[in-house]
Amino acid sequence: MKRLGILLSGRGSNFEAIARNVLAGRLHCEIGFVFSNKPEAPGLARARELGLPSGCIPSAGLERESFDSQVADLLHQNGVDLVCLAGYMRLLSGKFVSQFPQRILNIHPSLLPAFPGLDAQYQALTHGVKVTGCSVHLVDENLDSGPILMQAAVAVLDTDSLETLSERILKEEHRIYSEAIAWMLEGNYRIQGRRVVKT
Ligand code: GAR
Repeated sequence: MKRLGILLSGRGSNFEAIARNVLAGRLHCEIGFVFSNKPEAPGLARARELGLPSGCIPSAGLERESFDSQVADLLHQNGVDLVCLAGYMRLLSGKFVSQFPQRILNIHPSLLPAFPGLDAQYQALTHGVKVTGCSVHLVDENLDSGPILMQAAVAVLDTDSLETLSERILKEEHRIYSEAIAWMLEGNYRIQGRRVVKT
């Protein structure tokens, strides 16, 4: 059984959606480790409640490469095959990425390459786009970059506030992240340049 490593920094609703699918047997894998760089992250507390192996190294003040190598060690020690960033608000060093080649996924709340970085939903709303959404992509050392696996579109309504738009995007995030993980675990894909195609 393949083992997921979840990295999070906050609320952890994407982690919970994945955990629900794993526990219900809809996603055929185990959660091998949940890591947070923030001791106070609600997602970390939830992992503990669920009895999942978890750990935290506060990132504040630590040099990126040595921090990342400690995180990678924890993931390796816990037999992690696929790393899933779920609201992990840190850029990964090239050295970390190369330890899990094509084995790190991220979810981002926009249709990439539009609106990378922080507050993607706010960026979309203030830019005035009529359609936004979310993306699951493979991670490289650049911000919200890397080949895209799956996207879902969400219409921006005239009546939307940041909260209502973010809520509808989040619902799609919870759906496509597990779908993308299932696809990666099945392994029936090929990466051609920036394109991830079904085989
Ligand atoms: C999610 O909306 C995720 O897409 C976003 O952070 C939120 C985390 O929520 N990630 C990024 O913006 C990455 N650039 P969650 O902790 O409830 O899963």
